[in-house]
Parts: sequence; structure tokens; C-alpha cells
Amino acid sequence: MIKKGIILAGGLGTRMGPLSKAVNKQLFPIYDKPLIFYPLSILMLAGIKDILIIVNKGQLSQFKKILPNGENLGIKISYAQQEFPGGLPEAFIIGEKFIGKSKVALILGDNFFYGQSLTAKLKNCVKLTSGAKVFLHPVNNPSLYGVIKLNKNKKIQKIEEKPKRYLSNLAITGLYFFDNNVIKYSKILKPSKRKEIEIVDLLKKYNKKRKLSAELIGRGGAWLDAGSI
Ligand code: DAU
Repeated sequence: MIKKGIILAGGLGTRMGPLSKAVNKQLFPIYDKPLIFYPLSILMLAGIKDILIIVNKGQLSQFKKILPNGENLGIKISYAQQEFPGGLPEAFIIGEKFIGKSKVALILGDNFFYGQSLTAKLKNCVKLTSGAKVFLHPVNNPSLYGVIKLNKNKKIQKIEEKPKRYLSNLAITGLYFFDNNVIKYSKILKPSKRKEIEIVDLLKKYNKKRKLSAELIGRGGAWLDAGSI
């Protein structure tokens, strides 16, 4: 069972400037709650109660004001800071101590999910015994996301970050489940052209070993990467 989860809630939020200069985008309101409450609720629906929130250096007090230690929600929240946004897999390097020998879920702080059958799927994902699992969702603008191409038998054929040429319309959403190898694999990743270590390179490592599986959010489901206004 996966009992630990990380919310990666740093980043520069450059696509949301100038608003994001004063306040981290994950604290912007969606309806009546800060954005980060939504990915937090996804981890909670999965039954994960031990949660590490990674924030930008210097922004800890902003977050702690609205989400102190989780006691009021019946969960445990701890915090870590990221010096500079060097890529999503840094979550597993910064979170190494928190993860320990466990498996771990990662959700991006700006990802919003809705789906009728999502809770059942999440409960299934936390049963992961080894390897990694991702959630896919069809989008109109795949060149903005990490994308997976499946073959006829629904096997993963290709993985690419923000493909310039059409590969598939299946975006890799910001919700991932990993076994403990994720720490080891993250540490050996090399920075990409955009000078970040990339989650798709991590997924490629699992896929090479035939240890990556993908699932669709499903009919009637919705997913928003709330990275822009
Ligand atoms: O939203 C899903 C997409 O997220 C995936 O399809 C892509 O494969 C993945 O690379 C990522 O793409 P983005 O370009 O949208 O990632 P972004 O830089 O916007 O970061 C996503 C969230 O993670 C955002 O809330 C900021 C946070 N973040 C990001 C980085 C790179 C951090 O906290 N630290 C970081 O180092």
C-alpha cells in the first residue's frame, strides 16, 4: 500500500505573472478554496494521510498559514523547501528522508482532477507493489504536456515531453505513483535542454524495464493543469 504522498507546490508561476510575484500560484483561489486544496483532496481520496508539501524557498509561511500540520483534516502534513525549480523529480531527492523505504505518490500542486470513478481508481493505484503508474487524459493541445503514445494493445510505445510534432493526444497528468526505486533513478537523471530534470525521463527508465503502466482518468472525467490564467 502507498501511504505517503508528495505535493510539489513550488515553481516560478511565470505564466501567471504579475499575480504570482506576490503569492504562489498554488494559493490562488479556485471557487472558494486555494488551488492546493484540490490536489491535497486527491491524495486524501486515495487514502494517503502522510503528506509532504514542497514549496519554494522563502514561501513556507504562506502555506503554513492555510495548511498547518494537517491535524484538523485528520492527516499529517510536513514541509520541505526547494532551493530552485530544477525539475519535478527533485521531489524525490528533496523528499528522500520523508519517503524512507516506502513507495510514494506525487501530485503537482497546480493539477485539478475530477472524475466519477476516480476514487475507485485511486484506491487501486495505492495497491501498487512495484514499478510506476501514471494517469492519462486526452487533450486538444498535447504539445503543452508530457505525452504517451499507446499501441493497439494499450501498451506504452513512446513517451515525450511537449512534443513539437503530433505523437498522441494523451497527456500525462500530474499524478504519479512510484515504488522506492524512484529515489535512486531520480538521482541519476541528467538535466534537459530547459535545464531541468524531467519526469518523462524518469518514466522512460521505468518503461524500459517494462515497469510503467498507464490508466485513463476515464469518461466524464476532467483534468486541468492550472498553470496559466
Ligand atoms: O501538468 C502536467 C505536466 O506537468 C506534465 O504533462 C509534464 O510532463 C510535466 O513536465 C509538467 O509540465 P509543466 O511544464 O506544466 O510543469 P511546470 O514547470 O508548470 O510545473 C508543474 C508544477 O510543479 C507547478 O505547480 C510548479 C511545480 N514545480 C515545478 C518544477 C519544475 C516545482 O514545485 N518545482 C519544480 O522544480
